[in-house]
Amino acid sequence: MRNFTFYNPTRIHFGEGQIKALAKEIPAGSRVLVTHGGGSIFNNGVWEQVEQALQGYHLSRFGGIEPNPQFATLVRAVEQLKAEQCDFILAVGGGSVIDGSKFIAMAACHDGDPLQLLTGTRATRALPLGCVLTLAATGSESNPGGVVSHAALKAKLPFSNPLLFPRFAVLDPRTTFSLPPRQIGNGVVDAFVHTIEQYLTYPADAPLQDRYAEGLLLTLIEEGPKALANPEDYAVRANLMWCATQALNGLIGCGVPQDWATHLIGHELTALHGLDHAQTLAILLPAVLAERREAKRAKLLQYADRVWQIGAGDEDARIDAAIARTVEFFESMGVPTRLAAYQLGQEVIDPVVAQLSAHRMVALGEHRDIDPQTSARILTRAL
Ligand code: NZQ
Ligand code: ZN
Repeated sequence: MRNFTFYNPTRIHFGEGQIKALAKEIPAGSRVLVTHGGGSIFNNGVWEQVEQALQGYHLSRFGGIEPNPQFATLVRAVEQLKAEQCDFILAVGGGSVIDGSKFIAMAACHDGDPLQLLTGTRATRALPLGCVLTLAATGSESNPGGVVSHAALKAKLPFSNPLLFPRFAVLDPRTTFSLPPRQIGNGVVDAFVHTIEQYLTYPADAPLQDRYAEGLLLTLIEEGPKALANPEDYAVRANLMWCATQALNGLIGCGVPQDWATHLIGHELTALHGLDHAQTLAILLPAVLAERREAKRAKLLQYADRVWQIGAGDEDARIDAAIARTVEFFESMGVPTRLAAYQLGQEVIDPVVAQLSAHRMVALGEHRDIDPQTSARILTRAL
């Protein structure tokens, strides 16, 4: 196992009715910027609960943070925050609202062009942030990272800074009952792929991390389809929500090699073609596994055996079967796994690869050997 430092300070309030905990988490007298997306929180009772819990605080509401949050929108939020002299940010929504709010938290304390914070300048201060999660997927609710989209640059720009761990996260599974099927599928696929990217590399003498990861994958496979079939099954939603948080709160990645190629190539597909984050992952992960079959052989066989219970056949047949089961699972969650299903073809490959090079994404994967030519082959496999 490699050396590691594990730090996760986010306090989790999990379960039904936990939005009430906001009042004890946000310091009395705070001036709170409440951020949200396009309006789902007004249709599912979440906003009423937040407003109720925050009686007595000065609230300033900023709505309209879009999926794949846009830099220009977030800059407007920073202006509102400053005009209203807010000193605490409460993000209410999915990964986009939380990521966007992390950016607002650091941009509010930055003198100079906020774009610098996405292009190499490290934030040294950030406002405190809490969140009420309404979509189980990204893990943003208890990690220090985020991704902001910049339309003019045609880029999704990731950032990470320990200052950006949310102080607390409220996870009430009931808030996810109102998710449309597309977002249920997206959430399960995103959490699944986060787990795979920290697991399916090469053996690293880390059996506990392997079994944590396999536990998450098996639970997502069992519970995901149930959420599509019975959207108001509380137990299922609770299990999915906790899986998604654990898939990217840092724990399963401790001391092991990681391969984020699927995510990083996927970001370019979203930036250029507007696909949902999880759609890009469903397209790319099977192609990455197929392309990297030799480098990942030992772990692919372990994945086939322990996650899909595939014991029959020679090694290559077992690997083929495991990749096929992965594809079937994503498709069963309503997330298509081919570029063609999104009306994209051969013509997208060169521009995506050019953007990867422009963003210096030229040495991806656990061995840093996924170069632009390999990325092009991965995209070709995904046609
Ligand atoms: O905007 P509203 O009206 O709220 O609707 C949203 C949005 O349209 C809707 N939604 C959310 N909760 C709902 C709901 N609809 C009904 N009922 C509810 N309870 O769902 C739509 C998608 O929301 P979004 O926040 O975009 O989805 P998600 O949580 O999948 O976040 C995706 C973003 O997170 C980034 C992605 O790149 C993408 O920008 N990621 C962040 C990560 C991190 N911080 O660690 C890691 C991930 O890999 C990912 O890259
Ligand atoms: Zn993701």
